[in-house]
Amino acid sequence: MSIHIEENLFSLETKNTLYQMMKDPYGQLLHLWYGKKTDQNMDYLINSNEINYTGVLYESQHDRSYSNDILPFELPVSGHGDFRISALSIELPEGSADLDLRIKEVIPKDHKEPLNGLPYSHDGKNEKAEAMDIVLEDHQAAIEVILHYSVFYETDVIARSVEVINHNEKAIRIRRIFPISLDFQEQKFDLIHFYGRHVMERQFEREPISHGIKNISSSRAMSSHQHNPALILASPNADELSGPCYGNLLMYSGSFAGLVEKDQIDQIRLLLGMNPDHFSWTLESNERFQSPEGLMSYSEDGFSTLSHNFHHVIEDHVMRGRFAKEAKPVLLNSWEAAYFTFDGLSILNLARETKELGADLLVLDDGWFGYRNNDYTSLGDWQVNEEKLQMPLEMLVRQVHQMGLKFGLWIEPEMVSEDSDLYRKHPEWAMVIPSRKPLVARSQLVLDMANPEVVNYLYDLFSKIIRDTHLDYIKWDFNRSPDPLYSSVLPANRQSEVSHRFVLGTYNLLERLTHEFPDVLFEGCAGGGGRFDAGMLYYTPQIWCSDDTDAHERTKIQYGTSFFYPIRSVGSHVSAIPNHQTRRKISLNDRKIAASPGTFGYELNPAELEWSEKRDIEKQIIEYKRRQPLIFDGNYYRLSNPFEDHAAAWMFVDKNQDKALVQGMFYRFISNYPGRKVVLAGLDPDKKYEVTYSSFPLSSHGRFEEENESAPAKAIFSGQALMTGGIRVQTSMNDDAGFELELESLN
Ligand code: DGJ
Repeated sequence: MSIHIEENLFSLETKNTLYQMMKDPYGQLLHLWYGKKTDQNMDYLINSNEINYTGVLYESQHDRSYSNDILPFELPVSGHGDFRISALSIELPEGSADLDLRIKEVIPKDHKEPLNGLPYSHDGKNEKAEAMDIVLEDHQAAIEVILHYSVFYETDVIARSVEVINHNEKAIRIRRIFPISLDFQEQKFDLIHFYGRHVMERQFEREPISHGIKNISSSRAMSSHQHNPALILASPNADELSGPCYGNLLMYSGSFAGLVEKDQIDQIRLLLGMNPDHFSWTLESNERFQSPEGLMSYSEDGFSTLSHNFHHVIEDHVMRGRFAKEAKPVLLNSWEAAYFTFDGLSILNLARETKELGADLLVLDDGWFGYRNNDYTSLGDWQVNEEKLQMPLEMLVRQVHQMGLKFGLWIEPEMVSEDSDLYRKHPEWAMVIPSRKPLVARSQLVLDMANPEVVNYLYDLFSKIIRDTHLDYIKWDFNRSPDPLYSSVLPANRQSEVSHRFVLGTYNLLERLTHEFPDVLFEGCAGGGGRFDAGMLYYTPQIWCSDDTDAHERTKIQYGTSFFYPIRSVGSHVSAIPNHQTRRKISLNDRKIAASPGTFGYELNPAELEWSEKRDIEKQIIEYKRRQPLIFDGNYYRLSNPFEDHAAAWMFVDKNQDKALVQGMFYRFISNYPGRKVVLAGLDPDKKYEVTYSSFPLSSHGRFEEENESAPAKAIFSGQALMTGGIRVQTSMNDDAGFELELESLN
């Protein structure tokens, strides 16, 4: 039992953590504690002496030890004596936004209810969610607010969402709603967040929290390349393997905000939820509004454990369907191989080469429909360009299937080109403000997913294509952010709902298509990794991580991505050199190493490779398939911070601590430097491991030129030594500076 309701004390317990709230003497819901388990009521820590002349509750006016100005709240609301950032703000019928929420009831639930129209954490194969609702009400305003909690005991994760019900006979307007809000009493924290841009997503940044408000957000109606809805509060001494840290993840793919405030008495408040900019939602009498869900986890033992908790909760409780657990196909994608320049025969040749290399799936990327020979045209006109393919798509797919290969197709459903029949026929379906010129990006406009007619049209269209063509895979792209946010089907006073309604429309389409085609693997994509979030992972169990396939830069992007998102969800490929994004030439082996912590595949034309390179790729695919169970099901450890170090290093350890794979690479050769050591993690200190320097073995003198000139080097070390002293890996004088070690326990 992980939910304890004792009179005025409400505790959520996971294997290693405690989350505690209480109903105070005035009926307000206070947040008492989140962190390591304790064995008592933590209310003795609350110090709420009135320190300023600020308004206090009318009934508490003679109690100078009670002030909303500094109390820790479970759901801080706007107004009512709390001047910090608020998790909920509602404009009441009379125009004020002063909410007075008191506890109405606390309801344990025997199962978790689905969140209507939104992704949510659900019962998993290994564990069920325990759930509880806390119902708050502003009696006078006739508004009810339900805090929905679910607890994943084994995974050390707590989920929370907020629902507002308007019992008032007049309409109200929600202005802010944050499913995650955490109040901490005087505590020093660093904030870790992941900023970026196109081809440079999820860059790690760590900074001490100072007084004032820090805002990490996206107002682009997509989770975005620029920031990710994922925040960590870490004790300044926390590192990968030790120290307290709190992870917070929003399961939402639209505009979000993560706000952190350090207040007048050094308390810290963290909010993560929907971006209040450009958002408000009118709730008519008796209507409800459901916020997205937030996931929280606490680790006493640093970031590795925190990441494992999020990896597990996403794998077991967020992702659905067979691909959440099963092996994934190794694919070859046509984009960097051919861009828009292909025909049916060249695609069949690509398929033949793909098969010969040993990959499982050929993906035909952009350019197969309408007159799409460049990116100026045809989005929305999803008729196969048979002139270009020289055959119907069904025939092409049939021939690929006959080769023993699966076939996948690229689509970008939420977009329309200005130059398209769809836009000419339905200009009102695009998000364009009447009488204004549209904002154009990559010559495309965004369809109004807030319009159910558009969503239904897209569903009919794409379900037919998938069905008729017998597709095995879909790459769902999204190359520009919706802007302006305007829907022709909503009145002026509801345009501020478009951003959220857009996301709901996309989720609706994704839900219907993924439900109807459970055997089709859907991969998310947004100009690379611009919509890499837990909301999308509910529908698409893998997401293309970035358009940047440069092995060095990619390891940094994947480093940031790995803090929250499971390795099995990370779309990652080997591409040709010179790299199309950086022009850098990195060895095939290092490109393979960089693409390994993910779903793996190729983004190149094998016909342009040397015979020896094709042979190496065949070996890479065999090797990756052998390793995939360890990569997907093992625990992942970051062994270096590539933003501070000149090397990337990471490893996987299987659940029994019998097998491990260490991988990494140096970004530059340092002259006359005798190599360096990497300290391993996650092994059993009491086991002995045989370490094999795999792929390209190393000797104490450096790198062997040819794999078969010598058997791979092997040595035996104790787990304890490997996790304390580490192991030496060499730098090499050529550009092939990657290393791989495979470990097998001898016990
Ligand atoms: C952006 C994606 O990230 C690429 O992989 C490719 O699919 C292009 N779009 C196609 O337009």
